[in-house]
Amino acid sequence: MVEFKIKDPSLAEEGHKQIEWAEVHMPVLMSLRKSYMSKKPLKGLKISAALHVTKETAVLVRTLKAWGAEVYLAPSNPLSTQDDVAAALVEDGINVYAWRGMSTDEYFWAIEQVALKEPNIVLDDGADLHATLHDKYRNIASNLEGGTEETTTGVIRLRALEREGKLLYPVIAVNDAYTKYLFDNRYGTGQSAVDGILRATNILIAGKVAVVAGYGWVGRGIALRLRGMGARVIVVEVDPIRALEAVMDGFEVTNMKEAARKGDIFVTATGDKDVIRKEHMELMKDGAILANAGHFNVEINIPDLESLAVEKREIRRYVVEYKLKNGKRLYLLAEGRLVNLVAAEGHPSEVMDMSFSNQALSVMYIHQNKDKLPRKVLRVPRELDESVARRKLESMGIRIEELTEEQKKYLESWKV
Ligand code: ADE
Repeated sequence: MVEFKIKDPSLAEEGHKQIEWAEVHMPVLMSLRKSYMSKKPLKGLKISAALHVTKETAVLVRTLKAWGAEVYLAPSNPLSTQDDVAAALVEDGINVYAWRGMSTDEYFWAIEQVALKEPNIVLDDGADLHATLHDKYRNIASNLEGGTEETTTGVIRLRALEREGKLLYPVIAVNDAYTKYLFDNRYGTGQSAVDGILRATNILIAGKVAVVAGYGWVGRGIALRLRGMGARVIVVEVDPIRALEAVMDGFEVTNMKEAARKGDIFVTATGDKDVIRKEHMELMKDGAILANAGHFNVEINIPDLESLAVEKREIRRYVVEYKLKNGKRLYLLAEGRLVNLVAAEGHPSEVMDMSFSNQALSVMYIHQNKDKLPRKVLRVPRELDESVARRKLESMGIRIEELTEEQKKYLESWKV
């Protein structure tokens, strides 16, 4: 019996089509699914996942099911679920507890549902499931073979748990695989965040002053794409090395107070809270647009925005206009949540192909090495990471060069 709580089961037909579309664009994960399907390497395992419920996640969880696992799926954000996909997954035998527009309580209820299934392995994006298991269900956590973590913010939280000596199972930081962050964080968010801003606002990017807060992999992807569309991009960064990189990549770099006066569009991608706060909002131009691409809705201080406002209305879907006491209007997109997943569809399938191939391979790796792995935050093994790159290149019809035996010897020798 499949368990579920979703918006509307009748949306399944549309969801199946969306999943098929994603499958066409996820050749690596599909080839992995096929390669291991007959062996059923996850037979008898219960897997609980807290991931954005998208068509790409559907391809991942269907793969885990095809490999023999029983899968329980909660969302990793209250506003990111694609309800048609959720309905299709239920028809496919996946247990789903997710719908778009959940309250915070409903969101944590869903996380608890999947935690309470006593899974063998957990997959998470942002670490709310890992945190819930460590906070409230330590017995269940202690019996886990291991888990994975999809995103930078989640890995930072798990490292904090590890530092305190409290991590109860090994976790593979999928985020830190090269074939994840170099592509998903940079090109995936670079494109999908701009996609979200455009779907919400339909503004012209060319000629605008865009302020990008954070010059990590996500920030640089967004800055790159906005520049590509003709924006004059200002980067705000606290790390001196990253700030210097941004300068030498040709961006204007300054602090938020200065940038606040100049920007037409603000995009936060730092992973920290209060990046845009009252003192900045008060300086902004009339009509400035505020969007967030970081995991949690804490980067733009919304209580500050509310406290400055005398009037508030939804002017378009996912665009709320705040009229401030000083007469200026600021526009907050997607309630300050991940603009790419709320106002658009998240990263394109082609990059999720690599991220989720790392997830699938990591799950298999955890199971195969369940008695050997330390209770630490671990990297995706280099061979798996490289195998994803090789399969991706192959799917793109791209050949790469190989070293000759002589070249290998040359690289291994220290002699003059
Ligand atoms: N994170 C960012 N984009 C995503 C997508 N399309 N599916 C699942 N998780 C995501």
